[in-house]
Amino acid sequence: MRSLLSVPANRPAFFEKGAKSIVDALFLDLEDSVFADQKIAARQTAGHSIGTLDWHGKRLLVRVNAMDTEWGFRDLVELGGDCPQLDGFMVPKICSLDELRFVEQTLDALDRERPRERPLELHILIETAIGLARVEQIVEGARRLISVTFGAGDFAMSLGLYGRARSAGSSEYVVLTGERGDENRQTHWNDSHHYAMARIANACHAFGIIPVDGPFADFNDKLGADVSNRRARSLGYQAKWAIHPALIDGINATFLPTAEDVTWALTVRKALHEARASGTGSAQLDGRLIEAATMKTVDRILMLVDRS
Ligand code: COA
Ligand code: MG
Repeated sequence: MRSLLSVPANRPAFFEKGAKSIVDALFLDLEDSVFADQKIAARQTAGHSIGTLDWHGKRLLVRVNAMDTEWGFRDLVELGGDCPQLDGFMVPKICSLDELRFVEQTLDALDRERPRERPLELHILIETAIGLARVEQIVEGARRLISVTFGAGDFAMSLGLYGRARSAGSSEYVVLTGERGDENRQTHWNDSHHYAMARIANACHAFGIIPVDGPFADFNDKLGADVSNRRARSLGYQAKWAIHPALIDGINATFLPTAEDVTWALTVRKALHEARASGTGSAQLDGRLIEAATMKTVDRILMLVDRS
């Protein structure tokens, strides 16, 4: 799972386009893209469409409302009970292991009531200060968790910020070089999401969960989106949301090794096989050391390409 398309559950006109897109997973959103007075109608639209539309074999999820709202629990129970075609849920604003366990027990009950080929999947968002403070505890204690998404917009709100949610740096989060009176003082930009993103990625890898980066909002900014994709991948993220079909290609390409990576991997594999045959565990390629341990990188690249 490299790409996840978010589709507002109250925009049925989007459903078919989403179902036919080349995204790996798609989720109908009942949360942030639906106003309070449309929540129940959106849930009904989602339930009806899940059962009647051809989703082209896509992994199909619903993002429910948060568990501390009047809708979240019923979103889980009604859609989980009525929609055998549904693969699972994305649950936002998870704040504690107790809350996660409550969701897990609800999914256990739904699976017992209506056994499925595969148990309902659970994906969550960490997007509050308290959720981030407990992220290791949450992922370590989880039983049926598959992925954790970092939600930057709500996280910024949770820190008391009110600027426009950005997926990139802020011109205010800078370090100024030099001292008073220096003529050439420069500002060095920092990434205000670095701490949260790195902490979530590390927690996920420590406990075998897929870290997913939330959306990049400006779907007309191709360069900005590419940089946002690669920044997430560099920190260990394995997938990213798209809020618009125009973003899917870039995400799919980013979270797969490039043709250049594959050529490098094949060359290294050949050189290491030769080194091994001659009784050594290391060699040089273009003046750089490659050794037995480099095979781990080679294997990962080839495995990722093979699986795609
Ligand atoms: N899923 C499926 N199809 C989508 C889509 C989405 N998220 N966003 C746009 N499309 C479709 C449109 O229906 C349109 O299809 P058409 O060519 O058949 O007419 C095409 O893609 C181009 O859309 P465009 O005109 O560029 O955008 P728009 O004004 O229709 O929609 C947004 C723009 C931002 C309102 C819309 O992309 C959206 O609602 N995104 C998801 C928001 C969301 O899920 N938020 C919560 C998670 S953060
Ligand atoms: Mg949110």
